[in-house]
Amino acid sequence: RDLKALRDHAQNSPLRVIAHIDLDAFYAQVEMVRLLQPPHLPLAVQQWQGLIAINYPARAYGIQRHITVKEALEKCPELKLVHVQTWREGDTEPGDWEAPEVGTHKVSLDRYRRESAKILGIFRERCDRVEKASIDESYLDLSTLVYEALLEQYPQLRHPPQDLNTPLPPAPPTIFDEENHGKIIDINNSQVEEELPSDWSDLSLSLAALHITSIRNQIRTQLGYDTSAGIARNKMLAKLCSSTYKPNMQAVLREGVEGSFLGGFRFTKIKNLGGKLGAKLVEIYKTEQVSDLLKVPIDDLRAKLGPETGAWLWQIIRGIDNSEVNIRTDTKSMLSAKNFRPCINTTVSAHRWLRVLAEDLSSRLLEDPAHRRPKTLTLQHKSGGGVSKSKSMPVSKGGELTGEMIWGMAVGLLRGVEGEGRCFPCALLAVGLSGFEGREEGVQGIAGFLVKAQ
Ligand code: CTP
Ligand code: CA
Ligand code: CA
Repeated sequence: RDLKALRDHAQNSPLRVIAHIDLDAFYAQVEMVRLLQPPHLPLAVQQWQGLIAINYPARAYGIQRHITVKEALEKCPELKLVHVQTWREGDTEPGDWEAPEVGTHKVSLDRYRRESAKILGIFRERCDRVEKASIDESYLDLSTLVYEALLEQYPQLRHPPQDLNTPLPPAPPTIFDEENHGKIIDINNSQVEEELPSDWSDLSLSLAALHITSIRNQIRTQLGYDTSAGIARNKMLAKLCSSTYKPNMQAVLREGVEGSFLGGFRFTKIKNLGGKLGAKLVEIYKTEQVSDLLKVPIDDLRAKLGPETGAWLWQIIRGIDNSEVNIRTDTKSMLSAKNFRPCINTTVSAHRWLRVLAEDLSSRLLEDPAHRRPKTLTLQHKSGGGVSKSKSMPVSKGGELTGEMIWGMAVGLLRGVEGEGRCFPCALLAVGLSGFEGREEGVQGIAGFLVKAQ
């Protein structure tokens, strides 16, 4: 039954394995590779006078995100600084400008998005179920891979008995070693490197870990990037694992140690507990530690947080997370915005900025592997007095949506705003695309259907 559940990538199989992979100091690595910087030299990526990515050699000087460039240079005078690419007002392409300024330039993340797409391409090449979680991290559901590897390596599993409740045969021992599998998190949250009494779930983890090592090696050889990964039973645990031994390392969380592993965390590190709910918990229970919450009975959680949230929380702090790796990560909308400080005052200037926003959107559309098309274009406008307006129009069907076409539509909508008066001074312009549809949905819809029909 467990094997069958694994084959069907069901969330409840004890053999299920999920990996979370995150790029180390992502934007900084992209610049290091592009500029052929030796990996041991400190480098940081700058946005205006702040730092948004810091490589590990620079972190050794105590440089952290969001300190100023000046403070960073005091800590490490030889720090190599790279400014993110920017568009100048009116430009159709971003560039690497010497000293861009927030008043005349807009940040472009194109370079990092392009690298992100290449990385995602490798994940998708090596795994059939990938969820992009952000520009530099993804979840991989390794069920199919592990299922196939188990059947190949252990032929005794190939012929399931009629009665699905028949236990699996005794598992051969699993030997984890750091070089091939990464670090193994054991009960005391320290690593072990010995032969362990193991079961099939350990073998699953071990096969998955070997595969992730291989994927990470491929990313390094093909693209030059270091990654960190976590390998565990579910998404929540995999994500916590991936940051345990950062940088350039992966960690495997064995079955049965979830409780002690989680007990050491502050619960604000757990997804969905970083915000309001987390703050509420701190207020009610006067603690930030998972270990303290583990002592609270489920009825108490339900009474204080509501039946659903209480039950969810009770499970999550015990390492139970049934959320699926969502392979349909298609963007539902896209927005490109520019705040003006000081405000802009002329139609000419507004048109020039709309051009930048339009080009930003069109280049992001080109990177969509499925070439999907949005149904609606929206213009947002904020006046100097803080009044917001938004106007939309349908996007006509047809060929490629160029920057020029998006620009034309946005200019048309701006005319509407101007017609209503109080267009200037203007504090913000944003152009959004939404209602994406097209190939990806169709293809994945069919793929999903085939999997279910097996
Ligand atoms: N980023 C950002 N602003 C933030 C958070 C992240 O611009 N508030 C960017 C960073 O420049 C970073 C990328 O998004 O390179 C990924 O962020 P994250 O994974 O949080 O940090 P990394 O820089 O990749 O560092 P780490 O090695 O800790 O993952
Ligand atoms: Ca990262
Ligand atoms: Ca990240």
